[in-house]
Amino acid sequence: MDLHAARLAVSPETLSLLATLPPYDGDNALTLAQQLRDRGADPDVVAAALTQSRLRAAAHTKFGEFASGMVFSQEGLEQATRLVVAAHHGQRYRAAGAHAIADVTCGLGADAMAFASLGLGVVAFERDEGTALLADHNLRHWDDARVVHADSMVTLAQGDIDVEAVFADPARRNAQGRRHDPRDYSPPLDAVLALRARWPQLGVKVGPAIAHDDVPPEAEAQWVSVDGDVVEAGLWMGALAHHHGHSALVLRGGEAHVLDGFPVPGEVGEVGEYLLEPDGAVIRAGLVGPLSHTLGARLVDPHIAYLAADAPIASPFAASFRILESLPYSEKRLASALATRGIGHAEIKKRGVDVDPAKLRRTLKLKGDASATVILTRIGKSRIAFIAERV
Ligand SMILES: C[S@@+](CC[C@H](N)C(=O)[O-])C[C@H]1O[C@@H](n2cnc3c(N)ncnc32)[C@H](O)[C@@H]1O
Repeated sequence: MDLHAARLAVSPETLSLLATLPPYDGDNALTLAQQLRDRGADPDVVAAALTQSRLRAAAHTKFGEFASGMVFSQEGLEQATRLVVAAHHGQRYRAAGAHAIADVTCGLGADAMAFASLGLGVVAFERDEGTALLADHNLRHWDDARVVHADSMVTLAQGDIDVEAVFADPARRNAQGRRHDPRDYSPPLDAVLALRARWPQLGVKVGPAIAHDDVPPEAEAQWVSVDGDVVEAGLWMGALAHHHGHSALVLRGGEAHVLDGFPVPGEVGEVGEYLLEPDGAVIRAGLVGPLSHTLGARLVDPHIAYLAADAPIASPFAASFRILESLPYSEKRLASALATRGIGHAEIKKRGVDVDPAKLRRTLKLKGDASATVILTRIGKSRIAFIAERV
C-alpha cells in the first residue's frame, strides 16, 4: 500500500468526510465526488474517502458490520481472512490457553482483530508501512493489540518477544498473481515452520491447494469452506491441533461442522438412486473416503469425488441429488433427454470430464418450465450424464 495513500486514508479529514457519506453507489460516485468538491472539500480527501467507501462496501461480505469501522486497501482486502474464519483461528489459541500471540504477517489485521476480540494480547507485525498504518487504525479499539512495522522474521530471530504462540498468514500473491508453491510464499512456509523450535504453538494459514506432502506430519491440516467455497487451509501445531491428521471445517448458513480423519481411499460400488457431492473442503482434505464410510455411501469411481447411496442422506458435508435418469454422455443425447423432460433451467456440474458447462449450456438450448441438475462425470472409462434433482 502506497504510504502517502495510507496516511491520507487514516487522516482525520478523510475519516470525518467518510462518516458523512451515504451507502456506496458506484453509479453515483462521480456525481457525489463533484458535489463534495464544489462544496469546498479537498479533492485528494474526496478521492480517498470515496475509495474507502467503495472498499467498505466490498468488505461487507468478509466483515459484515465491522467493515464500516475499518480502513482498507484493495490488496489487503483481497488477502484478508473473513471474520467468521478468523474467529475460528482465534478459538484455537484460546482453547490452547494462550494469552499473547504474535501475528507475524498481519496485513490489514483481520486475524489480529479476531484474536484481540477474544481477549488475547496481540503483537501484529507488518512489514509494509502503509498496510501497517491501516492495521493500526483497525486495531485501535483493543489496548492489548499493537502493530509493529517491521519484518517479523528478522525481529523474531533477533530478540525476545513475550508471546506464547504464533500465527502466520504468508502473502500468496505478487504482481504476477497467485503463488501456489509454499516456497514462494512471503515469508516462505519453511521459514515460518522453523518458528516451531521456539513457539510449538504455531498456526499457519496456507492456500487450499497445498499439497498433502507439504503438511508437517505432526500438524492438523484443516481445509475450510464458507457457504460452499473453499477459502483456505490451516496448519495447526502443538496444542493448537485438535487431532493429528486432516480435517474439514464446513461453515454454512451460520453453522460450523467439522469432519476429522486421514486421507484414505473409500470403497467403490454401484451407482444408486442418490448421488452425493462432497463439500470442497472435504475433497481438498482428501476425506471423501472417510466421509463415504461415515455416511454408509460408496464412491462411484476411485478417482472421482461423487458418492452413491440408495437412500437420501442429510449431511452438512455433502449435497444430495436424486437421480432421475442416467445416460452415456453425448451433447446430443443429453439435449434430447432434457427436451423430453421439458427442462428449461439446469444447474450443470461436472467432475472428471473435460466439458465447459457454460459452452454446453449454450449448445443445449434449454426450453421448458422444469428445472434439474445435470451432473457429468466419468466412471472408469465411460462418460456419464445424470439428470437429477437436489434433495
Ligand atoms: C495474506 S496477508 C495477511 C492477511 C491477514 N491475515 C488478514 O487477515 O488481514 C500477508 C501480509 O504479510 C505481510 N508480510 C509478508 N512478509 C512479512 C514479514 N516478513 N514480516 C511482516 N509482514 C510480512 C505482507 O506485507 C502482507 O500484508
